Amino acid sequence: MYKTLALVLASAISVMACEIPGDVLSNNITESFSLQIQNASFPDIHNHYLNIWDWGGGDQHLFVSPAGNSTSELQLIDGVITLPWDPPRRAVINGEYEVLDNTTKMFMTERGDPRAVFDVVYGCNPDTDAVQVQLAFKSRGDEEAGGNVGVRPFNGMYDFRWTPAGNTAYDASRPWTKVTLVIVHP
Ligand SMILES: *[C@@H]1O[C@H](CO)[C@@H](O)[C@H](O)[C@H]1NC(C)=O
Ligand SMILES: *[C@@H]1O[C@H](CO)[C@@H](O)[C@H](O)[C@H]1NC(C)=O
Ligand SMILES: *[C@@H]1O[C@H](CO)[C@@H](O)[C@H](O)[C@H]1NC(C)=O
Ligand SMILES: *[C@@H]1O[C@H](CO)[C@@H](O)[C@H](O)[C@H]1NC(C)=O
Repeated sequence: MYKTLALVLASAISVMACEIPGDVLSNNITESFSLQIQNASFPDIHNHYLNIWDWGGGDQHLFVSPAGNSTSELQLIDGVITLPWDPPRRAVINGEYEVLDNTTKMFMTERGDPRAVFDVVYGCNPDTDAVQVQLAFKSRGDEEAGGNVGVRPFNGMYDFRWTPAGNTAYDASRPWTKVTLVIVHP
């Protein structure tokens, strides 16, 4: 019986660990993409997409689909999520700082706010175990290294927010959920 259990566990572990290629990925991706959001523990957001919302003044705010407009024209330039418009809109982390959970908004703008900078890494799809290409948070511009990007309830939708590394602040009435951002080419 224990032998059977061990076999079942071993196969479960192998199912959950796809083989990660050894190469290092460029932080420039000029072939247009959408960003899929993954966190298999949270069905309301898992496998939804990062959408844009024309917030005025040239800014696009970021929401979890179905809120806002879908986009598949994102690029990654020097690790920064970019809409290749004229002028380009870049993902930044600034504004609406919330002391209750120590989060700051991530949105897209043509202005010079501290950029959200990512590395590009391989991961395993939690549903299919296929190899996928995903973003790993690197820094808030030159201001602060590390931290995580997640989503938080906002007027019946979810917007995107960054927390610094080691953050322990948490607001149970408005829970912040860490997400994986996955490159999906249309
Ligand atoms: C990424 O693209 C930018 C803008 O085109 C360019 O300046 C930079 O050298 C590129 N970096 C790499 C590693 O190719
Ligand atoms: C979606 O895009 C359309 C066309 O550009 C625009 O008129 C509309 O304001 C956008 N809606 C949102 C929520 O951004
Ligand atoms: C909030 O974030 C700052 C860094 O941005 C950090 O110094 C501080 O410890 C954090 N607060 C909590 C409660 O984690
Ligand atoms: C899902 O969200 C929880 C809560 O924020 C977090 O602890 C966990 O690491 C997340 N999982 C992934 C795969 O991002």
